[in-house]
Amino acid sequence: MQEKTSIHGAWASRWIFILAATGSAVGLGNIWKFPYITGENGGGAFVLVYLFCILLVGVPIMMAEVLIGRRGRQSPINSMKDVAIESGHSGSWSLLGWMGVLAGFMIFSFYSVVAGWVLYYIAGMGVGDFIAIGGDDAGKVFNDLLADEQTLLIWHTIFVVMVMLVIAGGVKKGLENAVRFLMPALFVLLLLLLGYSTQTGAFAQGWDFMFHFDPEQLSWDAVLVALGHSFFTLSLGMGAIMAYGSYLPKKTSIGSSVLMIAFMDTLVALIAGLAIFPIVFANGMDPGAGPGLMFVTLPVAFGQMPGGQIFGFVFFLLVGIAAWTSAISLMEPATAWLVEKFGWNRVPSCAVLGFIVWALGVAALGSFNFLSDVKLAGFNIFDFLDFVTANVMLPLGGLFIALFAGWFMKRHATESELAMKSPTLFNAWYIVLRFVAPVAVAAIFILNLIEKLK
Ligand code: PFF
Repeated sequence: MQEKTSIHGAWASRWIFILAATGSAVGLGNIWKFPYITGENGGGAFVLVYLFCILLVGVPIMMAEVLIGRRGRQSPINSMKDVAIESGHSGSWSLLGWMGVLAGFMIFSFYSVVAGWVLYYIAGMGVGDFIAIGGDDAGKVFNDLLADEQTLLIWHTIFVVMVMLVIAGGVKKGLENAVRFLMPALFVLLLLLLGYSTQTGAFAQGWDFMFHFDPEQLSWDAVLVALGHSFFTLSLGMGAIMAYGSYLPKKTSIGSSVLMIAFMDTLVALIAGLAIFPIVFANGMDPGAGPGLMFVTLPVAFGQMPGGQIFGFVFFLLVGIAAWTSAISLMEPATAWLVEKFGWNRVPSCAVLGFIVWALGVAALGSFNFLSDVKLAGFNIFDFLDFVTANVMLPLGGLFIALFAGWFMKRHATESELAMKSPTLFNAWYIVLRFVAPVAVAAIFILNLIEKLK
């Protein structure tokens, strides 16, 4: 089993893997979601809990995902099966891979809708639609967009096609080429934007909002949101990182690569917050505006500032790129599985998957117009997909991945796959993975439930 390679190909180098996994991690979660949930949950205290979750839960579980992937060298469904069998357990562990594929479909369907909004705003910023726009008008532009199912459909469709074209190219020609070019672009755009926001005059206020610690602001709900978000933002609990791990060259150190990925992901989220909140405060706007923060508050702010049109364009371009490289990883596990299972080429596999997620996305975008009456557990379809994946399926998937790598896989298998130089470091990882991460995830789940039942 040790010498296996993947039939799908391999990353050219450790750096390409880091870029690809960072591309998966850095997405709408960092730039759209993180700032607005931080705004809704009171700022600093939430950020602190989130950072703890990344370090104590996210990083160890990400290492587990990568090592399972590299050991199995296949799609998460088949890797879970083979690695379980190798350690003398049931092949039904593949169910975890299946749950991941389902979560991938569900995330993709709302992700693509938001990415569609982003594409619409790139175009709008590009032609100067938002110059000197007021708050009411910006709100109207966004609400009109949500109500206009045809426009939503067009942009959603374009995004699905963009993603599927890359995946159809395969690991080397598709994924690798895309991240090689897009990730450096993303970092340059982000730095440009940060430079711009330090010039707004409200940088200190934005900084204070994000890092001022006030425990009173924290609720169990907020802790669950922070935990769920740490999974979402690191693309954990659904096999995306496992799939990327299966293309990882044998000699690459998993521990240091994962630390790098988690560090870059966190950095982008913090920079996005530090770029957005000063702009919000400089224009006297509300940081707790929710999902519309990026689409209503920011265009107004950009519209009123010198150079705002160009920087608004840069901003949405950045978000679009981030969404693109993330969405690719949402569909890679299912694509790899179709290729393995039926021996299909990537092109028909992508056509089938593309159609499925496109149709699901139509249901998600309908939440804002023709399906607005449909409620699932009190949520509209869009919010339901977001809530169930981020706050239930991903943490649950992560919990089982931790339990699997910590308690079911043979210790020598994890040890040889991680190949850490220091036994102390390995033991630290092993203890956190076996005890700390699962207990933290389970406790947050249970405490939240108790709170809800009160
Ligand atoms: N990590 C992505 C983000 O923060 O936007 C979202 C995501 C991508 C989640 C891929 C899960 C995944 F498998």
